[in-house]
Amino acid sequence: MANDELAELVDTSDEWIRSHTGIGYRHVAAEDEAASDLGLAAARLAVERAEIDPSDIDMVLCATASGDHVGFPSTACLIQDQLGANNAAAMDLIVGCTGFVYGLETAKGLIASGSAKHVMLVGSEVLTRIMDWTDRNTCVLFGDGAGAAVISESQNGQGVLDSYLRSDGSGAMALARKSGGTRAPFQDGGTADTYIQMDGRAVYKFAVQVIVDTIQTILDRNQVTIDQIKYIVPHQANVRIIEAAAKRGKIPIEKFYMNIEEYANTSAATIPIALNDLYEMDRLEKGDLLVTVGFGAGLTFGGNLLRW
Ligand code: UT7
Repeated sequence: MANDELAELVDTSDEWIRSHTGIGYRHVAAEDEAASDLGLAAARLAVERAEIDPSDIDMVLCATASGDHVGFPSTACLIQDQLGANNAAAMDLIVGCTGFVYGLETAKGLIASGSAKHVMLVGSEVLTRIMDWTDRNTCVLFGDGAGAAVISESQNGQGVLDSYLRSDGSGAMALARKSGGTRAPFQDGGTADTYIQMDGRAVYKFAVQVIVDTIQTILDRNQVTIDQIKYIVPHQANVRIIEAAAKRGKIPIEKFYMNIEEYANTSAATIPIALNDLYEMDRLEKGDLLVTVGFGAGLTFGGNLLRW
């Protein structure tokens, strides 16, 4: 869906959206599709590429802020069933846009402890169904999408080398769906509050700072320089956030891979979709070092150092 199509629904324009966010389009799931459907398609492709059998998967993790159901059952269980991961446990990670970053570290921990050999990590969102299409402050920003990865034991130094994960719950209400949980149940009314609500400026400021801090922390504690990093794969929320972080952190903007123009913000799915883009464009070689960096609802933030 192009910006011009949105401009027919709310008082906005292609020019405003592009100049304030870098977004040109967003993909919208079909009416009969929910997060598990998009996640399943991504998971199937990941299984095929990893050349494993679904029955070899020990854990299905689904990072999502827009799961099929409120609270339970988890979207991961729905994916586990449809995928045929018959020997797997399954659970959702509710970490907002930082979900895939947290998921990589969770998968690594399960493998390092010996509990799992193969973990299916999915980031899947149908955000267009939980946003207010009359609120121009939010509806221009989000889209639907999914990405997935199989994380397995590594013998050759590939995989998740380090992760830096943090939460600042003092900012929880800056990005929230306020109704529908036990704090403000549906039956008490206020269904408008089930949509995504955001203090855009507060999240913007928070994001610029934590992107810089996360990248610097990961580089410092692994004694890696920015020159050794092939790409920084950031959560795709707003091109201006990334540009501001690059400037503040004195990091060349070319290091950041961005595809927000095509997909908008797909929350927990932006990082796996970006990794998949790089993979499909043949821009990654075995041994490349990558840094992921995410931020979002919680407020949560963090990053991973990956060896491809
Ligand atoms: O995954 C994490 C999710 N969080 C985010 O992605 C949010 C991070 N924040 C942002 O990306 C930016 O703060 C926004 C894109 C949300 C807003 O950009 P901004 O440059 O900070 O705009 P603003 O809030 O300062 O608003 C500027 C003006 C306002 O008008 P007035 O009050 O100055 O007359 C808004 O009403 O722009 C207006 N505006 C719009 N105009 C046209 C806000 N949204 C729109 C719109 N089209 N879609």
